[in-house]
Amino acid sequence: MSTSNLDQLAGEGLHAASGHLPDVELLTRLANEFFSALPNSSAPPSAAAAPAPALEIPAFPADHPHVGNFVAQPDIPLPFESELNALLAPGKDIPSGLTGITNTATSTSPTPAAVTALQQTPALTPFPSTAGVLPYPSTVPLPFEDELRALLPPVQTVPPAYAGIPLTQNPGTSFYFLDGIPSSAADGPATEFASAHPAFDVNAIRRDFPILQELVNGRPLIWLDNAATTQKPQSVIDRLSYFYQHENSNIHRAAHELAARSTDAYEASRQKVSRFLNASSADEIIFVRGTTEGINLVAQSWGRQHIGEGDEIVITWLEHHANIVPWQQLCNEKGAILRVAPVDDQGQILLDEYQKLLNSRTKLVAFSQVSNALGTITPAQEMIAMAHRVGARVLVDGAQSVSHMRVDVQQLDCDWFVFSGHKVFAPTGIGALFGKTELLNSMQPWQGGGNMIQDVTFEKTTYHAAPARFEAGTGNIADAVGLGAAIDYVQRIGIDNISRYEHQLLVYATRGLGSIPGLRLIGTAAEKAGVLSFVLPGLSSEEVGTALNREGIAVRAGHHCAQPILRRFGLETTVRPSLAFYNTCADIDFLIAALRRIQGGRTNF
Ligand code: ALA
Repeated sequence: MSTSNLDQLAGEGLHAASGHLPDVELLTRLANEFFSALPNSSAPPSAAAAPAPALEIPAFPADHPHVGNFVAQPDIPLPFESELNALLAPGKDIPSGLTGITNTATSTSPTPAAVTALQQTPALTPFPSTAGVLPYPSTVPLPFEDELRALLPPVQTVPPAYAGIPLTQNPGTSFYFLDGIPSSAADGPATEFASAHPAFDVNAIRRDFPILQELVNGRPLIWLDNAATTQKPQSVIDRLSYFYQHENSNIHRAAHELAARSTDAYEASRQKVSRFLNASSADEIIFVRGTTEGINLVAQSWGRQHIGEGDEIVITWLEHHANIVPWQQLCNEKGAILRVAPVDDQGQILLDEYQKLLNSRTKLVAFSQVSNALGTITPAQEMIAMAHRVGARVLVDGAQSVSHMRVDVQQLDCDWFVFSGHKVFAPTGIGALFGKTELLNSMQPWQGGGNMIQDVTFEKTTYHAAPARFEAGTGNIADAVGLGAAIDYVQRIGIDNISRYEHQLLVYATRGLGSIPGLRLIGTAAEKAGVLSFVLPGLSSEEVGTALNREGIAVRAGHHCAQPILRRFGLETTVRPSLAFYNTCADIDFLIAALRRIQGGRTNF
């Protein structure tokens, strides 16, 4: 089929579509022709269609950096494939070759014939490899993309993920991928996406999160603000409802049935957190409001007991305010000194400099396992061992790590570990502090009241052992139970599956952002998780965040409660998309396409 032939057919399609109903037979024929013409399609031409046309592939730009063959990402639909299926389905005999439109064009392993054909196509000969996954760059049109788009405006059936977007305004993004990035050891084998499937089925996972069906400004929500907070699966939402419908009671304090139910649920959740972190006992887990409260607890309890004048506390430049301010307050109160380990231009801790800060005066080291502003994964185990060698205690802030990677507090050998539930798909207002048993029991309670006591007289109070001694007053019982449900959910998917998938997504997004002219990525550590901070020349972070919001894309734009690290890079703010396992390459494609439009001034701020 020649392009002009297609143009003509597209014209007919448009003509047919200008009435109330598209001409289904015509569209069937066009769809057949379209999919037959895709480079890796194995769809036989339909009976109604003309004989298979000679393939005409648009020339790639000579300086095209990518390699490989057209292959659609298995988890991501072809553009408009559902619309085409919907058009073809009702009351029609679909030609057998078309029943699997998806399959014919989304194979992750192109047929040998397709590979040979592509390799023999002069325009593709510069692309030698077939390893890896890359987006088909959206600046390069797909073969016949315009023709297919021209057919679709009248189609009202859109896939749920795109519900609400008038197709004529669909971003000019192509959900196509090139099976052919030169893979590096750091990226892992190119087959990882495929091997995570079906154990990791992102489309099934997305259905577990009702809010992902939400429309924002008339567009399907694309939630890329996961470092600020994560969305909640239905199982967590249901667990909270169930608690209030069937279990609600205060805990530990009554002989009645509901007190037993709520206590059981609450303590079961503590067990789940303990297993999640691989603590040696559930008694090492204290429920707190979140990371900030956990750090303040350690500062106000252990810190006030053990930090004195001239003592030193070491943190890093990566820390968010919750892991700076409590130590600053403690130092001010005690006359202690706060030392800060610097980072390099990629946002990696300079371990030599960190080592130089450690000495016999160092009483405490506190640092993040993953930076919220840059995404850097710190070498936590090594840093903890280095701190222990000078006799310092170590607190690890896991707010940004627990949802992305396996955490094992015994292997880390940290003294405390703290995280927030809401960053790991649980409700807000609940989190956990892990502490080694003996250490916790040597710490004075921070707050008094409620059930944290063994005995109270007007003269004297004795306290329970941990964890009760740190859980004064009525805590956030329902949300603690919700945290247990969130952990169950994460463990059903498998944290290693999540890590692997998110790593691929991060690589994909990093490359996508790298294609935006002038974009400066802040935080380019070799080991990163889930965060892509950037600035665009000539546009404030707020302008970019606002413009993205108009397209239904949620990112954080601001200082991320981590001003010092942004200032280390000469900035007050960045735009920060951040990932979770329910994000897809399509989300990234939408983001990149939107950024291009914003950069081109094709959006209102
Ligand atoms: N610490 C949270 C963030 O990074 C609030 O956005």
